[in-house]
Amino acid sequence: MENKKIGLFVGSLRKESNSRKIANNIIRMAPEGFEFKIVEIGQLPFYNQDFDDHNNVPESYTLFRKDVAALDGVIFITPEYNRSVPAVLKNAIDVASRPYGKNVWDAKPGAVISNSIGAIGGFGANHHLRQSLTFVNVLMMQQPEAYLSNVGKGCFEEGSDNFTERTYDFVQRFVQAYIGWFQRLIK
Ligand SMILES: Cc1cc2nc3c(=O)[nH]c(=O)nc-3n(C[C@H](O)[C@H](O)[C@H](O)COP(=O)(O)O)c2cc1C
Repeated sequence: MENKKIGLFVGSLRKESNSRKIANNIIRMAPEGFEFKIVEIGQLPFYNQDFDDHNNVPESYTLFRKDVAALDGVIFITPEYNRSVPAVLKNAIDVASRPYGKNVWDAKPGAVISNSIGAIGGFGANHHLRQSLTFVNVLMMQQPEAYLSNVGKGCFEEGSDNFTERTYDFVQRFVQAYIGWFQRLIK
């Protein structure tokens, strides 16, 4: 049987992004029968409904919508910007939710991990993201929640982008729970 494909969406474009480092660690946690891969979002122009209404859809939208449609599940790894979702990630959600009636997020099992260099772990971003994803009918795992706080201190091994043992164990439990959630929904 073909591997189930789970797309990872990273809510930060910067080179040294902690969110991307977290995603790269998660890729290595894919259990047998699953494949995790990052789906890039930085190439997408800001959503403008005129593109869809006037038959002027950017190629990057077409490719992204096709990529999302081909996924079996989705995991979002995001920082928090001003207590909410970074615009680049919200834009990606909007792009793949349109044109009206062709929402390719529909009915995919989903989960979110937020992170922050601060103490609150991106709580605001995590819950604002759930609001939009619930509306586009991503089937969001409610528990366990994952708010990675103080990611600058103790999340990654010294001089490396690999998780420390403690973070690895925490995130792996989260990933296992997601796989369980996925299997309850998709046979
Ligand atoms: C525009 C902007 C707004 C931010 N707002 C918040 C915030 O509301 N809460 C928070 O915990 N961190 C905030 N931060 C700090 C981010 O958590 C930090 O820059 C984080 O490392 C970004 O994620 P990344 O490493 O994946 O790029 C903000 C950063 C930027 C650039």
